[in-house]
Amino acid sequence: MPEPHHDSLGPSLWVIRFASLIRAGGPVLDLACGRGRHVGLLLERGHRVVALDRDAEALATLPKCAELEIIAADLEDGSPWPLAARRFAGIVVTNYLHRPLFPMILGALEPAGVLIYETFAAGNERFGRPRNPDHLLKPGELLELARGPCEVIAYEFIEVAVPRPAVVQRICARKLGGS
Ligand SMILES: C[S@@+](CC[C@H](N)C(=O)[O-])C[C@H]1O[C@@H](n2cnc3c(N)ncnc32)[C@H](O)[C@@H]1O
Repeated sequence: MPEPHHDSLGPSLWVIRFASLIRAGGPVLDLACGRGRHVGLLLERGHRVVALDRDAEALATLPKCAELEIIAADLEDGSPWPLAARRFAGIVVTNYLHRPLFPMILGALEPAGVLIYETFAAGNERFGRPRNPDHLLKPGELLELARGPCEVIAYEFIEVAVPRPAVVQRICARKLGGS
């Protein structure tokens, strides 16, 4: 049976579970948003959303509305971080990994801002792509990322069966410094 393409997936249950922790009405960044399977969810929750991806074709499928800012940018071509000093109440990253961005992602969270991150991890090679270690989190890697600047609300490093067999790591963490 062919693997479901990420574009055909609904929102991640992990993102759905923790989206309510993002400050009501606060701006949210969906980094490497693809066709925006989380954009609708975040807009429905009343957030202003910044959806960023390098794939102009995918971005063209996103809804056009005042609450949604669409940014076409390549995050890996050596250009400066495209969000400059902007800060977000929430940042969602799913099925995307480019380790050099970790400091920028954490830096773009406002105090008490919530990071919801879920992507493939070591062990996923057994099930399919991605297999490249550059695209697979190492054991505990998201935990190490968040510890220090954030309090960790939930973390898993787990083999899942749906939407297809895979090994994923996922975290929800809140940046320290809020009141
Ligand atoms: C597997 S898809 C995940 C999309 C979405 N986050 C989701 O979970 O449905 C990976 C996304 O990362 C984007 N991407 C890959 N490399 C990128 C880069 N260098 N800069 C910006 N976006 C990139 C791709 O265009 C694609 O939309």
